[in-house]
Amino acid sequence: MIPNLTTTTTPRAYNGHTSIYLPTIATIEDVHNETELEKIYTVRLPGGQNLGHTPGQFVMVSLPGVGEAPISVMSSPSRTGQTFRLCIRNAGDLTNVIHQLKPGDKVGIRGPFGRGFPVDLYKGKDVLIAAGGLGLAPARSLIDEILDNRANFGRLIILYGARSPAEILFRDALAEWNERDDVESLLTVDRPDEAWLGHVGVITRLFEHIQVNPYHTVAITVGPPVMYRFVVMELLGKGLTPEQIWMSFERRMKCGVGKCGHCQVNHRYSCQDGPAWTYAEALAFEEAL
Ligand SMILES: Cc1cc2nc3c(=O)[nH]c(=O)nc-3n(C[C@H](O)[C@H](O)[C@H](O)COP(=O)(O)OP(=O)(O)OC[C@H]3O[C@@H](n4cnc5c(N)ncnc54)[C@H](O)[C@@H]3O)c2cc1C
Ligand code: FES
Repeated sequence: MIPNLTTTTTPRAYNGHTSIYLPTIATIEDVHNETELEKIYTVRLPGGQNLGHTPGQFVMVSLPGVGEAPISVMSSPSRTGQTFRLCIRNAGDLTNVIHQLKPGDKVGIRGPFGRGFPVDLYKGKDVLIAAGGLGLAPARSLIDEILDNRANFGRLIILYGARSPAEILFRDALAEWNERDDVESLLTVDRPDEAWLGHVGVITRLFEHIQVNPYHTVAITVGPPVMYRFVVMELLGKGLTPEQIWMSFERRMKCGVGKCGHCQVNHRYSCQDGPAWTYAEALAFEEAL
């Protein structure tokens, strides 16, 4: 059963008042079926509030009596006004109920939380983004931010790997990136269907098709944990240093604000110090790799 959230005046938590655990009640403005497993939600905060996030940050999405989970903000700050977008996979208890919500329904939102990608540090550099599966959702925030400020960055290289053609996210955006001459975009699938004419194989296979200037490039990788080790090996092989490689780790989270310790990796809290880390930082907590 979908819980009924009727209050629309709850003050926004974390940014200065009430409790950091108290969600703002937001309204779902639009729901779009993206794949069989993922839906895209356009969410509006009350009172014309702007989310005020950076790419790579997440919000805690909740339904009372069901649960709360961290979800990356998919929209870029440049495309976030009074609404923002989330891409949510039906993965378990909470997301299953969220997948039943319709436009006009309410959800609780806390955040934005965590350390996102330091976009200012990437300015003037070539940016290589390697995303696997649902990792394209947080990466999308960064990609759109770069596209909307295109002159501030060098080359933009996007490598995306999906398990199968049916699981490819954001087909419209991929087609648009493919058309642009200021974006180098490559897509591969692990398991092609009969109609598939593109690259086949894991995402690391795409690296043989790109040239990288290691002195002028930052790399960002977002995807399932198994992908990181191999993508990082490719990047190091192309001459990037651990400081030039950024990755986003998805740890199990509860509070999202550095209080409960659920997301702790050695002495670091992923919800606050992450989810975005450099590979150099990640090496320091070896169990993460
Ligand atoms: C920073 C961050 C950003 C994220 N961004 C997104 C996003 O943009 N979109 C998105 O769809 N998801 C995202 N996630 C993942 C999302 O938070 C999880 O899928 C979340 O658990 C879903 O909640 P649920 O209650 O629906 O699923 P759950 O009931 O929590 O189940 C999710 C999966 O985890 C397994 N599981 C449950 N409990 C445990 C446990 N204790 N130990 C091991 N496995 C367990 C379940 O079997 C199931 O396979 C993100 C996670 C993090 C940390
Ligand atoms: S989720 Fe509670 S400390 Fe990070």
